[in-house]
Amino acid sequence: MTDKNPISVLVTAEDIKTRIEEMAEEIGAVVDDSWLVVALLRGSFIFAADLVRAMHKHGLAPKIDFMTLSSYQDGTESSRRVEITHDLNEDVIDKNILLIDDIFDTGQTLRETSKILESRGAKEIITAVLLEKPARREVGFRPRFAGFQIPDKFVVGYGLDYANQYRTLPFIGVVEDIQ
Ligand code: IMP
Ligand code: MG
Repeated sequence: MTDKNPISVLVTAEDIKTRIEEMAEEIGAVVDDSWLVVALLRGSFIFAADLVRAMHKHGLAPKIDFMTLSSYQDGTESSRRVEITHDLNEDVIDKNILLIDDIFDTGQTLRETSKILESRGAKEIITAVLLEKPARREVGFRPRFAGFQIPDKFVVGYGLDYANQYRTLPFIGVVEDIQ
């Protein structure tokens, strides 16, 4: 498996750019500068960077912080758990939070992360993702803001990886050999 594996484009760079502008406008109607933006690493780093700059065009300049998570399957339970490998620097008590991730797949990551932030005293938490795979959802909520709904295919690019490869692709693509 190398970067030479054939990749078919699912969402073009141009469509991503257009959709992020729309999302920033939608988010601007709900969020103000008192909110804290929390971006989940590593997958969301490119999406978050483009989204916050688009939000800036809509007059928003919130604080931004990052969390690195790794998810793992708990051997004794069916539910997935997330482990924080790098935590926030900002305090979240009484803060409203815009939680950004690259993709809402089963939804377990955003559910578990929301629970952690709530347990630390966060006030309201709303979620924004670039991609959503509706067929895979295992939780009782959907992301508040979602860029594109995609089929149940493993995708890479624009920050999303397969074994930490392909993050630099400017579009979202499907690696043919791993489907
Ligand atoms: P969830 O907890 O099942 O919603 O999964 C969310 C996380 O799984 C994302 O933050 C990604 O890191 C990873 N993930 C899920 N689907 C894909 C995919 O198609 N490509 C790359 N990463 C994915
Ligand atoms: Mg991720």
